Amino acid sequence: MLHAMNPARVQFMTQKLMEMRREEDSTADVDETTVLRGLDVLDVGCGGGLLCETLTRLGALTLGIDASAENIGIASMHASADPALNFTHSSPDGSVPSRAYSSRGGLTYMHTAVENLLSGQHVKQFDVVCSMEVLEHVDNPGTFLRNCAALVKPGGHLFLSTIARTPLAYALTILAAEDVLRLVTPGTHTYSKFVNPSELLDFFASASSLESDRPWISRLFDGVPARTEAETRGIVFVPWRGEWALVPRSAPGAKLWSEGCNYLFWVRRPLLS
Ligand SMILES: C[S@@+](CC[C@H](N)C(=O)[O-])C[C@H]1O[C@@H](n2cnc3c(N)ncnc32)[C@H](O)[C@@H]1O
Repeated sequence: MLHAMNPARVQFMTQKLMEMRREEDSTADVDETTVLRGLDVLDVGCGGGLLCETLTRLGALTLGIDASAENIGIASMHASADPALNFTHSSPDGSVPSRAYSSRGGLTYMHTAVENLLSGQHVKQFDVVCSMEVLEHVDNPGTFLRNCAALVKPGGHLFLSTIARTPLAYALTILAAEDVLRLVTPGTHTYSKFVNPSELLDFFASASSLESDRPWISRLFDGVPARTEAETRGIVFVPWRGEWALVPRSAPGAKLWSEGCNYLFWVRRPLLS
């Protein structure tokens, strides 16, 4: 199920990064295949490494971390089979590896939880931090978000995907996918842990949420942020394609109907003032 989400996630990430590059420099010569080149990317809760591999093939210098040793083992075995991924194991001392820029991307996996990346003396920050389908599994979402946010460079990007806490999401992800169709192991999701788009927006709009000097979203207009600061986008499963699709911004009433279950979120850390 998660692998079928990958194209929509990557599309959202590359589109948003391109949009921001062009916002800064209208003459920037970037497209979906080049916008990630040379960027330092951290994937928190990378699981089997599906997203990490795609981002690396697009030229990112990717570090995938996961709290599960088993998942890191599976991801490492898979990545080792493809020389194009330029794969290395994490350093034995647990420090975050740094890589020189190369037009080829590079991939490293590390068995650790996100909170441990912040415990060293020199905390490495990343151009892009992403964490897909993890937030709805953690016990303390505020702490998890603060930890992910602290690892983003000033001017860098945080991408998340998660599930809204709505009756529709309960019906689709728990009743249908777990209890009836058994597409997902029963008990995988807990309804009370689902997070609404408005809760994520409020979190990053509140000065007290983050340890950075100011909120990442300066203002919400009727609950909607400026598109240069943050964005939420629904993703929907398209049965005849067998994969998820990013709902176009222009789809009529998209905000109302498409963000009631699985959705993507992007927010940008402000540059230092
Ligand atoms: C549902 S899986 C998602 C895997 C992958 N991101 C994907 O979408 O295919 C959630 C993953 O998050 C990991 N995880 C949960 N809490 C974590 C934390 N605090 N730090 C790092 N990984 C974590 C779990 O071990 C698990 O592999």
